[in-house]
Amino acid sequence: MGEAIVFTSGKGGVGKTTTIANIGAGLSRLDKKVIMLDTDMGLRNLDVVMGMEDQIRYHLLDLLENRCRLKQALIRDKRFPNLYMIPAALRCEKISDYETKLYTLVSELKQEFDYVLIDCPAGIDDGFHFAVSAADRAVVVTTPHISAVRDAARVLYLLEGMNLSRVDLLINSYHARMVRKRDMLSDRDVEDILGMKSVGVIPLDDKVIVSQNQGVPVIAFRSKAARAFMQAAEAIDRPFVFPVDLDNEESFDTDNSILLKRGGCGYEA
Ligand SMILES: Nc1ncnc2c1ncn2[C@@H]1O[C@H](COP(=O)(O)OP(=O)(O)O)[C@@H](O)[C@H]1O
Ligand SMILES: [Mg+2]
Repeated sequence: MGEAIVFTSGKGGVGKTTTIANIGAGLSRLDKKVIMLDTDMGLRNLDVVMGMEDQIRYHLLDLLENRCRLKQALIRDKRFPNLYMIPAALRCEKISDYETKLYTLVSELKQEFDYVLIDCPAGIDDGFHFAVSAADRAVVVTTPHISAVRDAARVLYLLEGMNLSRVDLLINSYHARMVRKRDMLSDRDVEDILGMKSVGVIPLDDKVIVSQNQGVPVIAFRSKAARAFMQAAEAIDRPFVFPVDLDNEESFDTDNSILLKRGGCGYEA
């Protein structure tokens, strides 16, 4: 029986779709059978990031409304072993009406796949609840930007009440030089603010953009981001590691924290 993992963030543009594409490819390289579902109706772009837009015949809504069979909606990635995708529809009137159907579909997919990775729309309204409703686990993606971290805190707070077996944090677009100059939150700062360890820190890397323009996940190329995504895929595939102890003062040892200077994030996660 596989597991369904939703990739969510609150804030848009932090790298959820990029992360799904690369973690999906990374997990497939670990011999896992993986399917990626794009639930970002209206703004679908997982197919573009994966270079699969020309292969779309049916989409997720067609499948949920029984206009096609599962096999017809699945697109197989020929470059990675056992990696598949179902694209999002370009519009969907009332997404919350489809929650039960999505749950049933994901349950069926878990019989066949080791991982069902769900790309969640930005925000915390109906699209968020739709995507999370079918998931067993979540990966919260954030960048070290203060607004993204604040939204991640809000999302973590909401996920607490949503009956998931595991929630991981992934930090994307990390700019080491800015961190060294103390112009950006460090990974440790982000972890301390959110009260949990991350499963991976992905550097800001031009190769991510170059590879996306070619429709290939960056993990296929030699690059810092590729190595970091592969390590994150391995961590996501490993059993759960307990988060830092919030009562332990040492876990808040952040003398260079920009956030502490600003007086905190504003959400109790
Ligand atoms: N680690 C990274 N380094 C450089 N650019 C990145 C990185 N991660 C994401 N991007 C770029 O940021 C933009 C937004 O990423 P995307 O995955 O579409 O975010 P989301 O799905 O959260 O809206 C894209 O143009 C992508 O190429
Ligand atoms: Mg996206």
